[in-house]
Amino acid sequence: MSNLKACIFDLDGVIVDTAVYHYKAWRRLANQLGFDFTEEQNEELKGISRIESLKIILNWGAVSKTEEEMQELASLKNTWYVEMITKMTPKEILPGAKEFLELVKANHYLTALGSASKNSETILNQIGLTHLFDALVDGNKVTKSKPDPEVFLVGAAELNVEPSACVVFEDAIAGVQAAKAGYMKTVGIGNATVLKEADLVVPGLYEMTIEKLENL
Ligand code: BG6
Ligand code: MG
Repeated sequence: MSNLKACIFDLDGVIVDTAVYHYKAWRRLANQLGFDFTEEQNEELKGISRIESLKIILNWGAVSKTEEEMQELASLKNTWYVEMITKMTPKEILPGAKEFLELVKANHYLTALGSASKNSETILNQIGLTHLFDALVDGNKVTKSKPDPEVFLVGAAELNVEPSACVVFEDAIAGVQAAKAGYMKTVGIGNATVLKEADLVVPGLYEMTIEKLENL
């Protein structure tokens, strides 16, 4: 019998595919600064906070900016990003995500969101899934970026559950590492070669079952 009591879900790449919007907005910014970067490089930005992502991108372009200029650039990127996510609809929920959230709730597991994004509320409202979470923890509540476990530890605390009774669903390497650093079980969403540190990897939440959860 498993001792798991709670499921903590990352948002971008697990519940919805917002990586494409992040990529478009960051690329627009990079292009404006006179350089470009690939979709492959964009992989490295998954799970990383807005300001940390910007620092990585500026490094790719060998562009140096002051702290104040970086705040302005991050905010400009966010304006473009928000323009896109405020047009999102429930059709953009990834396959099986809503069904699996409903299934775990029906089986009396607690649920939390554990996202680095400061836009998680907007996204959850757009796709109509806010009601399926018992706790919402995102970039507005934490100061340390994944792979630091802070976002998941705050989630466990808000649910009043021990970290060892939590399982984290993550599509980013930094997110899997964060969950492990917090002594939580991890299910990687995506490619098993990339997410090899996870306890189990499935291509999407449509492949998850209560049995797989209990066997972790
Ligand atoms: C994560 C994304 O969920 O949120 C990252 O994977 C993103 O790519 C981070 O940088 C912060 O998002 P936001 O919405 O606060 O800019
Ligand atoms: Mg993610």
